[in-house]
Amino acid sequence: MVGYNEHNKSLVIIDRFNTNIYKNANMCILGTSGAGKSYLVKLLALRHRYLGISQMIIDPDREYARVCNALGGTLFKVGPSSTTFINIMEIRESSFEEEDSNDDENVSNRGFLAAKINKLHTFFSLIFLDITPTEKAYLDEKLVACYAKKGITFDDNSLYDDSLTEKISIKRRFRFAQQMPILGDLYELLKEDQKTEKLASQLRPYVDGSLKFFNNYTNINLDNKFTVADIHDLDDEQLAIGMFVIMDIFWDKIKEDRSQKKIIYMDELWRLIGSTGNSRAANFVYKIFKTIRKYGGAGTAITQDVSDFFALENGKYGKAIVNNSKLKFILQLEEEDVKILKNILNLSEEEEVKVQTFERGTGLFYAGKNHVAVKVEASPREHELITTDRRDLEMLKKKKLEQKKAQEEATAGVIA
Ligand SMILES: Nc1ncnc2c1ncn2[C@@H]1O[C@H](COP(=O)(O)OP(=O)(O)O)[C@@H](O)[C@H]1O
Ligand SMILES: [Mg+2]
Repeated sequence: MVGYNEHNKSLVIIDRFNTNIYKNANMCILGTSGAGKSYLVKLLALRHRYLGISQMIIDPDREYARVCNALGGTLFKVGPSSTTFINIMEIRESSFEEEDSNDDENVSNRGFLAAKINKLHTFFSLIFLDITPTEKAYLDEKLVACYAKKGITFDDNSLYDDSLTEKISIKRRFRFAQQMPILGDLYELLKEDQKTEKLASQLRPYVDGSLKFFNNYTNINLDNKFTVADIHDLDDEQLAIGMFVIMDIFWDKIKEDRSQKKIIYMDELWRLIGSTGNSRAANFVYKIFKTIRKYGGAGTAITQDVSDFFALENGKYGKAIVNNSKLKFILQLEEEDVKILKNILNLSEEEEVKVQTFERGTGLFYAGKNHVAVKVEASPREHELITTDRRDLEMLKKKKLEQKKAQEEATAGVIA
C-alpha cells in the first residue's frame, strides 16, 4: 500500500513485482527537499518488510537507522571512523554479469578479471578526474600486474582455490576476501613506475591518508534482509565514490540469488549521476535499472536535484532511469524542475501547476501510463519510526522520558 487517492480516498495498493502488470518493478521518486521522498521510502521499506522482500538502502543523510533498528536490520557505515570495509578490488563469485561475456561458446571462462578491471576503471574515473588515455592504458597494465601478483589471471580457474576444494563434493571454493588485492597493492605498483607516479600520488589519500578505509579487505556481511549503508561521514567529493562502491557490492549481492525478491533504494542518487559523478558511473546505475528485473530485483531511484539528475549528456541517464521505472512518484517540484520533466512525464498543463503546489507527502503516482494524485499516509506507529521532523523527535523524546519516569515510579511503589 502506498497511500490513498486524493479524489476518492480509495487506497492505492501496488504489487511491484507483478510482472503481468508492470514490465519492471523499478521506481523513481522525485521531489524538492522536504517534499517527503525519504519518508515515503521508509514507509515502503517498512511495509515491504512484511512481504519477506530483501531490501538494501544507501543512506547519505543518516536517517534510516531508526527503521533499521526497529526491523532488526544490519547497518554499516562507510567513512573515516568506520570499522566496516568494502574492498573495491575484490572479485566476487557473483560479480559476473551475463552480458559481460563476449563469446557464448566459452561459457567455462566467464571473464571475471576483465569484468572487474572494467568496473575499476569506472571507480578510478571518480578519483583520477583528469586521467589521459595514455595514463589509462598504463593503469590497465598495472591492474593486470597487481592481480597477477596474487595469482589471478584472465583464466577464471585462477579465482578458485583448489587446495580448498573438497575431494568428495565437486563444488569449487571461490577465493576468500583476504586472497584479493587491495588498493594498497596497486598503489605500490603505481608508485614505483615513473609513468604512473602521478596516479599514485592521487591515490595516496585512499591508501594511507584520511580515506584509508577504502584500503581494506571486505568484512561486511550482507545476509540480513534489511541492510542500510550509511555514507553520511563522506564529504561531497567522496560521496559519489562511496556510493559507487556500495552499489557495486549490493549489485553483486542482488545477483547471487535470483529467486529472492529484493529492492535497492538509492537516496540522493543525483550525487552519483549528476555533476559530482560522471557518465561511466551513471551508465553503471542505468545498467542496474535495465537488468535488475532478471535477478528478481527492483531499483528505487530517489532524487531531489532534478536539474543535476538530468545534467550529464543532455539528461541521457536521468531519462533512461525514469523511462526504465514503471512506477514513479512525483512529489512537490520547483518550477524549473517541472520544465525539465513535463515532457518526460507527460504532464498536462493542469498537472504542471498542481505538482508545484503539492503539500508535503502528496504526489502524482504513476503506475505504467496511469497516474493519480496520492497522499502518503503512515500509521502513528510508523510515523514515529520514520519522521525526521524536529518537533516530532522532541515529542518522542519527551514521551520516552515520561514513560521511563512512570516505570521508575511504579517500581519504586512496589519496593516501598
Ligand atoms: N506523508 C507524510 N506525512 C507526514 N509527514 C511527512 C510526510 N512526508 C514528509 N513528512 C515530514 O516531513 C519530513 C521531511 O520529509 P523527507 O521525506 O525527509 O523529505 P525529503 O523529500 O527531503 O527526503 C519528514 O521527516 C516528516 O516529518
Ligand atoms: Mg531525503
